Amino acid sequence: MNTTLLRITFLFLFPVLGLFCPAQSGPQITVDAGRTGSAISPTMYGVFFEDINFAADGGLYAELVKNRSFEFDHPLTGWQVMKKPSTKANLLILRDETRERNPRYIRLQLEEGQPFRLHNDGFRGMGIRNGATYRFALQARVIHDDLFTLRIELVDENKNVLAEAQMSNISQEWQTYQCEMQASETAEKGGLNIWIKGQGTLDLDMVSLFPKDTWKGRKNGLRADLVQLLAELQPGFLRFPGGCIVEGFDLSQRYQWKHTIGEPSERILNINRWNFEFKHRLTLDYFQSYGLGFYEFFLLAEDIGAEPMPILNCGMACQFNTAELVSMDDLDPYVQDALDLIEFANGPADSYWGGIRAEMGHPEPFQMNMLGIGNEQWGPQYIERYTVFAAAIQENYPDIQLIAAAGSDATIFPNGQEEIDYLWSQWRNLEPDFVDEHFYRRPEWFLENVDWYDDYNRQGPKVFVGEWASQSVGVASPDNRNTWETALYEAAFMIGLERNADLVRMTCYAPLFAHEEAWQWRPDLIWFDNLRSYGTANYYVQKLFSVNAGTHLLPLQLFDDSHQNEEAKHLFAGAVFDENTGDIIIKVVNATNQSHVVQFELENVEVKETGLVYLLTSESLDDENTLQEPDKIVPQENSIKPESSEFSHEIQPLSLTVLRIPATKR
Ligand code: AHR
Repeated sequence: MNTTLLRITFLFLFPVLGLFCPAQSGPQITVDAGRTGSAISPTMYGVFFEDINFAADGGLYAELVKNRSFEFDHPLTGWQVMKKPSTKANLLILRDETRERNPRYIRLQLEEGQPFRLHNDGFRGMGIRNGATYRFALQARVIHDDLFTLRIELVDENKNVLAEAQMSNISQEWQTYQCEMQASETAEKGGLNIWIKGQGTLDLDMVSLFPKDTWKGRKNGLRADLVQLLAELQPGFLRFPGGCIVEGFDLSQRYQWKHTIGEPSERILNINRWNFEFKHRLTLDYFQSYGLGFYEFFLLAEDIGAEPMPILNCGMACQFNTAELVSMDDLDPYVQDALDLIEFANGPADSYWGGIRAEMGHPEPFQMNMLGIGNEQWGPQYIERYTVFAAAIQENYPDIQLIAAAGSDATIFPNGQEEIDYLWSQWRNLEPDFVDEHFYRRPEWFLENVDWYDDYNRQGPKVFVGEWASQSVGVASPDNRNTWETALYEAAFMIGLERNADLVRMTCYAPLFAHEEAWQWRPDLIWFDNLRSYGTANYYVQKLFSVNAGTHLLPLQLFDDSHQNEEAKHLFAGAVFDENTGDIIIKVVNATNQSHVVQFELENVEVKETGLVYLLTSESLDDENTLQEPDKIVPQENSIKPESSEFSHEIQPLSLTVLRIPATKR
């Protein structure tokens, strides 16, 4: 065995198989298809959403106007005012305390009938598409019976008008005025003009512009191309809303789901913690409008067939920031938020919170089964708070599965491993359903730790690998790239996650989205600008695992007599059975620079039909997908016709290969 490379997927379930060692040279993969092992959770592969890198406002949320309600710290952020020097006009910021959740609006006092223009430049410009229809809306009123005419224009970066519409007859009561416009050209960095003509006083608020073509054509909707990329991952769950954004820089800035539901104009704007988190990537115009709020997250999860997985603040602000704690005496409202959220998601339409969901358009429950208590929390203060949450939830909703944190990545928070060991010792007693572990490490770490979970303690909670990604330079370094090396080594690590699917029940890459011009953290799974989007090589690794997850593990052995050097250790394989299709699915990661003709043997099945092979590879480990070359590293699909249950297939250098072989059990 000293020169024979041996990888056994079922160390725990099938230990005796290690005794068998075939004579052939060259790598051989043997799968015993007659012995299905642990079930793979249908929620094994999911997605992690956090509003970082303009993932929500300026990204997935299709609103094109930045600071539509004038509630940013600087009320005119995103807005420019243009008037002729001779125009007599005042622009005032007013505050109406009776409009508690959205108190500010602007007042325009025009003394002459001269044109006055407001311009909004969106989120690093507005993406406008030739032929597309846009919905413009604003809230307005006049004082007395003043007369105003508004001309709405969509313009490109050179001020050419791409679409226009007129509005008039503004009443003395606040009302919403809407119109639609069709663009005659495309602009990546377009903008919105509101030309105002009249005399007197005009109040404006909630100035909004959406493409009509949102995901499923919904109003207040999401960017269709970005949701499409998510849907194609076929995720088992959608984790939201984060990430550290759950915790906030301090507790006043924490994520409060109740601030994110109801009419968009009634959602309470909050600063985004990524606004000022990284001094090297300050993003001072980054706020949370919550137009994409908890209702929309639940709807999105439903649309893409994912289980909703909200993560709630547990009375602790980010421990990398202020680490504020709510006192135990004041914890009740936080716990009540969790109970109310369960009612909002799952309660009948005649319950209080279920009624609000129904009013928003979804009388049927969302069927939420999981809830995270805290994000990257650690220390005895966390245990103390978690315990109160868990008791209340278990008493009222015993079926809800709870997720507890195991701190942050052990290498980046103070005394990381010690803290994690302490948390696990607590979790083994308190028994949350899942413990959320995070890994942000160098690519080689993922390659060298494929066996990370093989010997894990299997007593107690299951593992949720809830945030992880290979960092090509360093944790959250601005120089990190989504290289093929990072993706390939992640694929190797996923072979290890999958073969431990009895313990690791869920996993998701983080973060999910990044705007090309407005990111704070890289690498990320999906990149976009105002018009385009693409999946990284890491995205396609996630996708190949997710759409080929299968339903049950199969015992697999990988032998390699011919390659006795260190490099040959970098060949990894795992097998699963898909009871829905009858396919045997074998995933092979070749992290070496040479191709291998692998002999496959599928035991206890007959193989007759043509199967499929997906190949993800690239020549260089430095390669990456970009906006200019979004398809440089994408899976290629081919058919495979094995002559029998023993066949060979050449595994390409630096590749992830997925074979789907239809088979009949003997
Ligand atoms: O994924 C980015 C950040 O990394 C998350 O907000 C946080 O949970 C982790 O530290």
